[in-house]
Amino acid sequence: MSRQFIAIAETSHEDLAEIYRLATAVVRGDELKDVGVSLVFERPSLRTRASSISSVQRLGGNVAVFTNDEIGLDDRESAEDVARTLAQTSSIIAARVKNHGVFARMIASSPSTSFINLLSNETHPTQAVADVLTLADHFAGGNVQGLAGVTVAYVGDATNVTRSLATALIGLGAHVVVGAPDGYQLNEQDVATISSRSQFGGTLRLTNFAFDAVEGAQAIYTDSWISMGLEAEAEQRRLDLSAFQVNSQLVAAADSPVILHCLPAHRGEEITDEVLDSEASLIWNEVRHRTSAMLGVLRWMKESK
Ligand code: CP
Ligand code: NVA
Repeated sequence: MSRQFIAIAETSHEDLAEIYRLATAVVRGDELKDVGVSLVFERPSLRTRASSISSVQRLGGNVAVFTNDEIGLDDRESAEDVARTLAQTSSIIAARVKNHGVFARMIASSPSTSFINLLSNETHPTQAVADVLTLADHFAGGNVQGLAGVTVAYVGDATNVTRSLATALIGLGAHVVVGAPDGYQLNEQDVATISSRSQFGGTLRLTNFAFDAVEGAQAIYTDSWISMGLEAEAEQRRLDLSAFQVNSQLVAAADSPVILHCLPAHRGEEITDEVLDSEASLIWNEVRHRTSAMLGVLRWMKESK
C-alpha cells in the first residue's frame, strides 16, 4: 500500500502523531531493507538533500538522487513519465518541485508509489516536522503535545514554510501569529486550510505589523524574503519587507523568545547575524531534526506496507 506525505493539512492528526513518534524512536537499521528511494530535486537544496540521503542510509534503504539538470521535469519528459520510470526501482519518490500540482499528477500516474514533498511553491511539510520537534525539545522535553498554549510569531514573507509550520503548530494547540505586510501575508484559502486544525485548541492571528506580531511570543520564526523562483522580484521585496527584519530591537519586544529559521538565511536581510548567532537561536537543532523528520516520514510510510 502506498502513503503520501504532500502537505501537513492533508495528513491526519493521528498520522502526524505517529510521524512525530517515529522521528525520534530508536532506529534498528533495517527498516528500509531492500527498499529503493528516489530523491528528485527540481530546485537547489542542501539540508533537505543531506538529511534525506542520511535517513535512507540509516534505515538500510537504497537511495538515488536526481537533479533537474539530469531529468528535466516536464521539459525533457513529463512528470508522469518521470514518476513511472522511477517507480520501477523505487517504492518511495521524494521530490522538491517548482509547482505543487505536479504531485497530484505523479501520484495519479503511479498510484502504488509513495511520494514525499521535499518543498514545493506551496508547502514544506518535512521542515514543519523538524520545527515541531525542535520546539518540543525546547518547551516540552520532547513531547510534541506539550506545545499546546505556546505562542509562535512568524515574521516576514508568508511562505511555503509558514503554511506548513502554522498548520502543524495549530494542530498541536499552539498559538501562531503571522506578521507580514500586505501582499506578503497568508491569503484567505491559506487561513481556511490552517484553521481546519483549530479544533485542537490552536489559534491563528494575522497582523501587518512586526512589533504587534511578536508581542508575547515565546518563539520568533522567519524565512527568506526571496524564495526560490522569485529572484526577479528581489529588489522590490527587500523594500517591501524591510520593516520585518528579525533584529535585536524586534526580539526585545517579545517574551525572551527562541529564534528559528529554516535556512538558508540571508544574513542582514530577513535576520541579523546578532540574532541568528545568539544563544536563543535554535537553528542548528532545526537542521539536526531535519534528519529526525525524514526518519519519521520514511518509517511511517514503511509501516503501511
Ligand atoms: N530548509 C531547507 O529546506 O534547506 P535546503 O533548501 O537547503 O534543503
Ligand atoms: N521559502 C523558501 C524556503 C527554503 C527552504 C523557498 O521556497 O525558497
